[in-house]
Amino acid sequence: MTAHFANVEDARRIARRRLPKIFFDYIDGGSSAETTLEANTGDFARLRLHQRVLAGLAPRDLSSEYLGQRQRLPFMLGPVGFLGLFAGRGEILAARAAHAAGIPACLSNFSIASLDDLRRAGCDGPLHFQLYVLKDRGLATEFLAAAERAGVETLHLTVDTAVTGIRERDARNGFRAAVRIGPRMGLGFAMRPAWAFDVMRAGRPGVGAVRGRAEFGANILAQAATLSRLIDPTLSWADVDWLRERWRGRMTIKGILHPQDAVRAKAAGVDAIVVSNHGGRQLDGARSTISALPGIVRAAEGLEVLLDGGVRRGTDVVKALALGASGVLLGRAYAWGVAAGGEAGAARVIALLAEEIDVTLALMGLSSVDALKRLGRDALTALDEPGFTDRLAPTGGRGSAPSPV
Ligand SMILES: Cc1cc2nc3c(=O)[nH]c(=O)nc-3n(C[C@H](O)[C@H](O)[C@H](O)COP(=O)(O)O)c2cc1C
Repeated sequence: MTAHFANVEDARRIARRRLPKIFFDYIDGGSSAETTLEANTGDFARLRLHQRVLAGLAPRDLSSEYLGQRQRLPFMLGPVGFLGLFAGRGEILAARAAHAAGIPACLSNFSIASLDDLRRAGCDGPLHFQLYVLKDRGLATEFLAAAERAGVETLHLTVDTAVTGIRERDARNGFRAAVRIGPRMGLGFAMRPAWAFDVMRAGRPGVGAVRGRAEFGANILAQAATLSRLIDPTLSWADVDWLRERWRGRMTIKGILHPQDAVRAKAAGVDAIVVSNHGGRQLDGARSTISALPGIVRAAEGLEVLLDGGVRRGTDVVKALALGASGVLLGRAYAWGVAAGGEAGAARVIALLAEEIDVTLALMGLSSVDALKRLGRDALTALDEPGFTDRLAPTGGRGSAPSPV
């Protein structure tokens, strides 16, 4: 597949043409009224970057330190379930694109390819794994063993899915409720023959992490429904301690949106947190991640903080880093890339964002991501939004760069 598009929104449009509606809506949609989904992107637009000139710029260095490593770019691929349904071998293609660009890829617990599949397919770069703790802790222990075997560097424990948000687009399309392909779904697939050929050629899809376990159901739809049902709604901080004892590698909690939860996570001894509202797919009405970030960074001082949600542009990444994120995770941005153009599509999204970050830094008079992080919140101004502005009051900068006037 080739991938000619000029920005992430273009990739989304191509994905819409290629995918059956049921899967496009599954990626694109949020929960209930989709207010949080909209806030995630909308609040980025409420921040304005400071333009600086005549800075005698050197070539920019986009490398960035997060999760214990210096990575070539300040963003990585976050966990997105069922990528292998958006393009044949989608998880493998995404990981290849990430590794070629020198960034980590995180495999979702709900993926078609397993960690072993990725390694067997020659994905030998940095891999992360996202875990949902199921009611059956034995299964969680097995997932951890598989992650250890595959040399996973960082485990992301997702905690914002105690119950699944109400996704009205999915309900309308009959996704998640269905346990087999009905006539309407079949017709939707038949209307996208190129997609169908591509996905079916990769083999009969199923959830890789529970392959061979008949109790999860006979096909991907049944497996997805069973797995969602089995996510443990009683998960608590005690389980974080349980996991911390069993997982010796680096570990984050993904899905923190409140400063007090960030403080609690720090006390639990995790290495980092991911400020996330699951891309506006869970609590509708929750605040945007970018607006929550400054308060969380302040409350959990000393704890590494990453962010995801609504990142569609290099400028979004720059804004998150300025507000204290060590790195950023992509979700829909690269999922659309995979759906639009497979490995080339994911690579194109990564390259576009990298280019946008490079140009943005240059026009801000900054020669590196590190310089941006040092400048911190003095790199931008918030438009007059109650609750946003007071949190972003100038601090005088965290570094040596001059304060904009
Ligand atoms: C189609 C789709 C599937 C997702 N699956 C998972 C998942 O399996 N595990 C998880 O922790 N997060 C999952 N997420 C949430 C993402 O990791 C991330 O938090 C979110 O997509 C960020 O928002 P953005 O897509 O607006 O960038 C999923 C998101 C999407 C769009």
